[in-house]
Amino acid sequence: MKIDRCYCFQKRFADLQAMAEETGAATVQEVQQHVEFGHNCGLCHPYVRRMLRTGQTSFDRIIREEDEPRPCTSAE
Ligand code: FES
Repeated sequence: MKIDRCYCFQKRFADLQAMAEETGAATVQEVQQHVEFGHNCGLCHPYVRRMLRTGQTSFDRIIREEDEPRPCTSAE
């Protein structure tokens, strides 16, 4: 099984990664300002977070929310 896109919007992670590099977008929400994806089931969000963290754009296993938590945004 290869997971390489937001299936609801048919947007490839490789294209999202290229957009993130081009624009400096560093979060799911920032990438969403440039590409429409992730507004339905949201299952792609942890994959996109991992992509933004590691640069990986194709995955062979399930990544759940708890596997790739949202970055801490508190101002500690
Ligand atoms: S897979 Fe991205 S919103 Fe459903």
